[in-house]
Amino acid sequence: MTCGLPYASGPMHIGHLRTYVPADVFVRLLKKMQTEVVFVCGSDTHGTPIVTAAEKADVSPEEIFQKYHKHYLETFPKLNIAFDNYGTTDDPENHHRTKQIVQVLEDKGYIYPKELESPYCDNCGRSLPDRFVRGTCPYCGADARGDECDQGCGRYLEPGEILNPRCAICGSPTRPVTRTHYYFRLTDFEDFLNDFLNNVDGTKNARNYALGWVKEGLKDWCITRDLDWGVDFPGDEDLTLYVWVDAPIHYISSTEEWAKGTGDPDEWEKFWKPGDGRIVHYIGQDIVYHHCIFWPSMLKGADYNLPDSIVASGMVKIEGHNFSRSRGYVVWIEDDYLDQGLNPDYLRYYIVSHSSQTKDLDFAWDTFRDKVNNELVGTFGNFVYRALHFTNKNFGKIPEGETEKRVQERIASTIGTVKAGVNEYELKKVTDAIMGLATFGNEYFQENKPWELAREDLEKCGDVLYNAVAIVRALAILIDPIMPSVGEKIWEQLREETDIHGVQLDEATSPLEIGHKIPKPVPVIDKIDDDLLEDLRASIEARIRDAEAAERGEKKVTKDIIEFEDFQKLDLRAGKILECERVPKTDKLLELKVDIGDETRTIVTGLADQYKPDELKGITALFLVNLEPKKLAGIESQGMIIAVEKADEEGIWLPVTIEGVPPGSKAA
Ligand code: 2FM
Ligand code: ZN
Repeated sequence: MTCGLPYASGPMHIGHLRTYVPADVFVRLLKKMQTEVVFVCGSDTHGTPIVTAAEKADVSPEEIFQKYHKHYLETFPKLNIAFDNYGTTDDPENHHRTKQIVQVLEDKGYIYPKELESPYCDNCGRSLPDRFVRGTCPYCGADARGDECDQGCGRYLEPGEILNPRCAICGSPTRPVTRTHYYFRLTDFEDFLNDFLNNVDGTKNARNYALGWVKEGLKDWCITRDLDWGVDFPGDEDLTLYVWVDAPIHYISSTEEWAKGTGDPDEWEKFWKPGDGRIVHYIGQDIVYHHCIFWPSMLKGADYNLPDSIVASGMVKIEGHNFSRSRGYVVWIEDDYLDQGLNPDYLRYYIVSHSSQTKDLDFAWDTFRDKVNNELVGTFGNFVYRALHFTNKNFGKIPEGETEKRVQERIASTIGTVKAGVNEYELKKVTDAIMGLATFGNEYFQENKPWELAREDLEKCGDVLYNAVAIVRALAILIDPIMPSVGEKIWEQLREETDIHGVQLDEATSPLEIGHKIPKPVPVIDKIDDDLLEDLRASIEARIRDAEAAERGEKKVTKDIIEFEDFQKLDLRAGKILECERVPKTDKLLELKVDIGDETRTIVTGLADQYKPDELKGITALFLVNLEPKKLAGIESQGMIIAVEKADEEGIWLPVTIEGVPPGSKAA
């Protein structure tokens, strides 16, 4: 089981999770269906996405990928996404496996040299592979990247194919230069691909797009680039391999890395060498071409096992708009979600339950709140709490009872639907079935009124609560792959001693242990607070306004995020202005003597056009007292008064006054 590799060039956002969360849920479900699964992924560290990001940050490609690789390694577990191995495409295993595969393809005559005319920028003094060039897509006319029509039809573009090329860095027009490159005979694989695509399992969107591209006609594929960073091409060390050669090969080398940890380094072969192993790729819709055309052809040509299934997820929208980092339609996983103290499992639930696997996923904070507060708290959490609360209150343990036929059948049919959802790669079907069982539980509870039975017929009451707890236990097992922390919490409240993650789906119909202690429960899901939601919405709105303002060439509404440690460096204190005088021969400057508690500072400020010295003398205001000293009109200013510019009157500044506070009081 693999997931498309994230480029290690920027922080994780919700677009990434559109693939990783369903993949992780799918793996956890398979493990609950007696399937041995190895789940591999890794950071994509090569190619122009990394080189351009490194240049922007003025660091080496290695530094940038290490920084974000660490970020991904640390962030996936926080989202309960549990890979069996997460490496990088720069690992020695991947260099080795890539060269081995390319060598086999070469030996079998699938690789040949050919002269290629590609763009060169005289201004930057370099050739322009892939993302270093922009131009017009020859298929749809949209503005496109060198290797991908990213804003139009989404097609893969061969080097040299783009029309009206210009340098993506400096904007200069380019000139063509000719150099020998190496091509993979993709055209030899047409019949194979037709056959493969007609039989591959997974989602229809992947298969159908790919069959359409084969029908349009394939071109041989240029697999080398004039770039220093990447896996060296074995036939010419001046060239590196195109990133889309070594990136998917990491699926194999990541499995090799996993195998080394198992004590049997050959274990990877049972998946990747032809045999009984099944390979499932979870990918985003934007990389179908690479996974359905290039990748199976490479595997076939080099005698590896072929993918059994290719599952392509729809794209992400934010508040109804197309996802776009530059336009502010993005949710950053760390800053916007985890750092706000939000439970990762709520986002997991949203992603798998909101829309079908192949449909676009619209993420909106209001919908998020409604899903958590209504579905998870109102339906699911409410039932679990009531069932356990009544059981604890009236019996303190699982009472005598027996699962009623209709309850048993309902749990069994839910398991059946969950399994069908897994087989169809449709996790919405899974969550709908689980929520259906929770609704059934609530109805069962309402119909049987155990609160009345507790007074009238304790035995009958016990029977009803036995059934209610049986549903709770089934819900815990079923929700666990989607919301592992919620599964664990319920399991704990049922005082079960096993590890819930190892419990099979079929065990959800097992009878309960009569007399087993049921403690006083606590709610397993918390409501989303309206104030927090307001803040989250406001921060996205501010980001969108900033992006729009930037597009119009205006100032940002809010500034770049800074780390808390950076904020802590500011020494902000209450200061009392003891004296205030005009600085001679200046229009704006005032010289202040400020009592900041342990000393009196000279601070020069530019407020003379708005305040007479007497208006400021005597006030207590907020000062930054550890700003680097600066000479203004010959006077050394040893700090700065904090003032606010009125949003509706440009240039009107109000000092932040804090009357009644002793000088030296600190702000944070
Ligand atoms: O499109 C991307 O983000 C690529 N880094 C995906 C690579 S998937 C695999 F083939 F390696
Ligand atoms: Zn296009």
